[in-house]
Amino acid sequence: MILHIVATIEISKQCIMNLNFDALRSEFPLLERKTYLNSGSYCALAKDVKAAFEAYMEDRLLVGANWDVWVTKNESVRALVAELLRAAPDEIAVTASVSAGLNALASALQFSGVRNKVIVSDFEFPTNAQIWHAQEPRGAQVVHVPRAADGYIPLEHFAEAIDEKTQLVAITHVCFRNGAKLDIPGIVRLARAKGAKVLVDCYQSVGSLDIDVKTLDVDFAVGGMLKYLLGTAGLGFMYVRDSFVKSLLPTNSGWFAQTDIGAMDITANQPAPSARRFEAGTPAVVNSYASEAGLKILLAVGTPAIEKRVYALTRRCMQRLEEIGWPSITPTRDDRRGATVAIPSRAAAQLCTQLLKRDIVTSSRDDNVRASFHYYNNDDDIESFITAMKDMRTEFVPR
Ligand SMILES: Cc1ncc(COP(=O)(O)O)c(C=O)c1O
Repeated sequence: MILHIVATIEISKQCIMNLNFDALRSEFPLLERKTYLNSGSYCALAKDVKAAFEAYMEDRLLVGANWDVWVTKNESVRALVAELLRAAPDEIAVTASVSAGLNALASALQFSGVRNKVIVSDFEFPTNAQIWHAQEPRGAQVVHVPRAADGYIPLEHFAEAIDEKTQLVAITHVCFRNGAKLDIPGIVRLARAKGAKVLVDCYQSVGSLDIDVKTLDVDFAVGGMLKYLLGTAGLGFMYVRDSFVKSLLPTNSGWFAQTDIGAMDITANQPAPSARRFEAGTPAVVNSYASEAGLKILLAVGTPAIEKRVYALTRRCMQRLEEIGWPSITPTRDDRRGATVAIPSRAAAQLCTQLLKRDIVTSSRDDNVRASFHYYNNDDDIESFITAMKDMRTEFVPR
């Protein structure tokens, strides 16, 4: 197994140095069997990530409770997420999910005063609306920013909703339904003008687009490991701007959120001075092994190069869809979309099933099929997808 890992790393190093994307595909055996266009749901498994799962099992078999290594893995994930987002490790909470991070943050906010509004958009993944609605008994007022007739949410709609009563604008970066990307810098400007904070849910963008939280100037960012970060389910993160950390006291807490995890003090709650105060209990250890490996691969390839490739792939896919007379509903402007191309269908779920019969893996949301791209996809994937779509056009194109 060790020989296999060394060989994989050697191949990857050479490919990464030359950014030979087709050679990098060999890290993902699934891609030899399937046209995999579903990274927006779950990434393809890399050999190094599988090896990391196995390393955990070896540790369990041969060492038992390898506590010191487990803690190191969790800290390594924190440091790698920080590097990815250009933040400091102390600004990153390693959470069990996006939902866990949002709940911890919500528990630290007060909604009883004048600033009780939370702004969300029509593009939210349910959890980033439901959790804010769950704060209504505590005084929160949740305002939904609607989309326009063309399906996009223009800045003016946010300008109408954000006011002096707004505490938080909690918005997705890229919409999981249609692949549209919101104008985060524009929304941050509007929020700043009214003294509101901004949280970005970047689960549908992180790892496929280059994200610098300092340049974006957001206050909070949440995401997780199972999509474009090449890791696994059961692990997420939350970035909290350093200047806010100490003023926020989560009532969702636990022993891993304490200043000294080993203190075992049952007489008081002493939150860590870092974003770790938004964590809770024993970390998902096996998920840290896998996600550490995924993050390392991703950082070695580099998100600026990945973003460029993802834009080229989605652009080409949308162009080819136009050519076969079945245009997508995803914005064509690069600054308005992420890694997903959404194609309307009169029976999207059945179309997905038919595509799967041809070994083409997609997913469906609402009336759309989603084809989501990562750096390991290529033009052949697009052509296989287009050939299949062309064959099924008459049966599945919207009436
Ligand atoms: C944009 C977005 N946010 C949040 C989630 C879910 O987060 P979690 O299950 O980690 O709470 C998803 C999952 O698909 C998502 O696409």
